[in-house]
Amino acid sequence: MKRFRPLSRRGFLIGAGAAATIGAPALGQGHAMRRIAPNRASDAFTPDVELELICKRDETSILTGRATRVWRYVGNLIKGPPDALTALPDAYLGPLLRFKKGQKVRIRLRNELPEETITHWHGLHVPMLMDGHPTAAIDPGETYVYEFEIRNRAGMYFYHPHTHEKTATQVYRGLAGAIIVEDEEERALGLPSGEFEIPLVIQDRSFDDDNQLAYGGDMHTSMFGFYGDRVLVNGRSDLTLDVASRAYRLRILNGSNARIYKLCWDDRTPLTVIGVDGGLLEKAETRPYVMLAPAERVDLIVDFSGRPQGAKLTMLSGEFYGLIPPMAQRMMGSDLAMGEEFPLFTARVTKASTDSWKLPEKLSTIRRFRKDEIANLDDPMPIAITMAHMAMFLNGRPYGHDDIQPRERIPVDTTQLIEIFHEHGGMGGMGGMGMGGMQGRGMMGGGMMRGRMGGMGMGGMGMMGMMSMAHPIHLHGQPFEIIERRFEGDEDAYASIRDGLIDSGLKDTVLVSPGERLRIIKPFGDFKGRFMYHCHNLEHEDAGMMREFSVE
Ligand code: C2O
Ligand code: CU
Repeated sequence: MKRFRPLSRRGFLIGAGAAATIGAPALGQGHAMRRIAPNRASDAFTPDVELELICKRDETSILTGRATRVWRYVGNLIKGPPDALTALPDAYLGPLLRFKKGQKVRIRLRNELPEETITHWHGLHVPMLMDGHPTAAIDPGETYVYEFEIRNRAGMYFYHPHTHEKTATQVYRGLAGAIIVEDEEERALGLPSGEFEIPLVIQDRSFDDDNQLAYGGDMHTSMFGFYGDRVLVNGRSDLTLDVASRAYRLRILNGSNARIYKLCWDDRTPLTVIGVDGGLLEKAETRPYVMLAPAERVDLIVDFSGRPQGAKLTMLSGEFYGLIPPMAQRMMGSDLAMGEEFPLFTARVTKASTDSWKLPEKLSTIRRFRKDEIANLDDPMPIAITMAHMAMFLNGRPYGHDDIQPRERIPVDTTQLIEIFHEHGGMGGMGGMGMGGMQGRGMMGGGMMRGRMGGMGMGGMGMMGMMSMAHPIHLHGQPFEIIERRFEGDEDAYASIRDGLIDSGLKDTVLVSPGERLRIIKPFGDFKGRFMYHCHNLEHEDAGMMREFSVE
């Protein structure tokens, strides 16, 4: 049963319509969104790097046969070092942008799409007007000029649209790209670079018989997110990397709308993790696998030395349980259920190398906050996630422009303790409806329903009730530290993901699984204004699981 629809011939069913379908009170919707005027270039700003990014319709060859129509970022470097912009001509992905900490960057974003758009520099700490706020959207034919300084530490960041209720479909059509920031601390380590540093963007897609992108766009997509039939890495299916027998740095971004991956090597070689969203860890960590939710990044070292020519190593997404009700994907017709094992890409050793390189013991220094620096130690700011009665809320409310609640006002230059948890409304506690309640091993195969599924056992209608799934929660602005992760629920299911959670580095997106309660510390420095926080399951974001902080 296929529920995917061709994107090209249908209007978008997600967005305002979908939000209405799932019954979210449309606080900010229905009113014309107040827009800010497109920002212009300022004479007072002298950029070190200046580039143009055009959002446009294009065609690219993804599968054999007919080319696929996509929307994509096409870039031109106007000023700056040549490696600041590397076009990826064969894929639909936007150019790889490479900035250095301290650089001043000007980006001219030109909209040549048939609808409004705006771009967000995910993870970069920039002023509100440079952050791609939905109210900054520009119409077809308009240009928005971004000017900001790179304040972040070295790391991999992500640019993508942040258009009101259109983020999911715009990203899905191909608007996404990676940013790499470099700094002195990282350079001193001599990590594998040049051809030995490989950025990898993982996204799932579905295609119709004509090789065109197909999308769910129905109620189930809004509810659970989009899950495609195949996984593309850097815009290609079945990506194979030819490598030399030496160390490589793989910088992986999950650019999928909703799919969560469990990265592991097929021969069970442990993963050497050197960094996450907000840059390098202090010390490398060895993990059997790494969970990577939408918008999360992981920086890996893989050493092929000692492997003979012709040897292959395949990165898989491994089996896991409990992050989404399995029937959710089946209802949407995906052949590739989240939590089943499938290959992502393969590395094949084709060249011998005698380069030997040792990973330094100490990678970086992360400045940790002291308790006395936290403004609200006894009164954490809540981020309550609700997925109930077909509504997507944070802190009990859907996204609304100008709907700032008292707890969302944050004094600038303070550091806040934030608690992120699942809210189960009036429909019972975590025990019965937690992770295990929704999905256990027994359910993976045939979609059999177990007694303790409560409302869900009623079938389709049961899904209208409250339910639990994992949500990747993203906060704009400066990265945060995860200081506590508590879990209460199905230990068996949790055991299939727990060793893949990396909480030691700086993060901007964190996966909050059913039954989990997290504490994070986040600084709100430098810039006043409105900054979004939301679920990075893009269908959830568009359906209203987004709010904003007012830093004042
Ligand atoms: Cu990557 Cu607010 O988004
Ligand atoms: Cu979500």
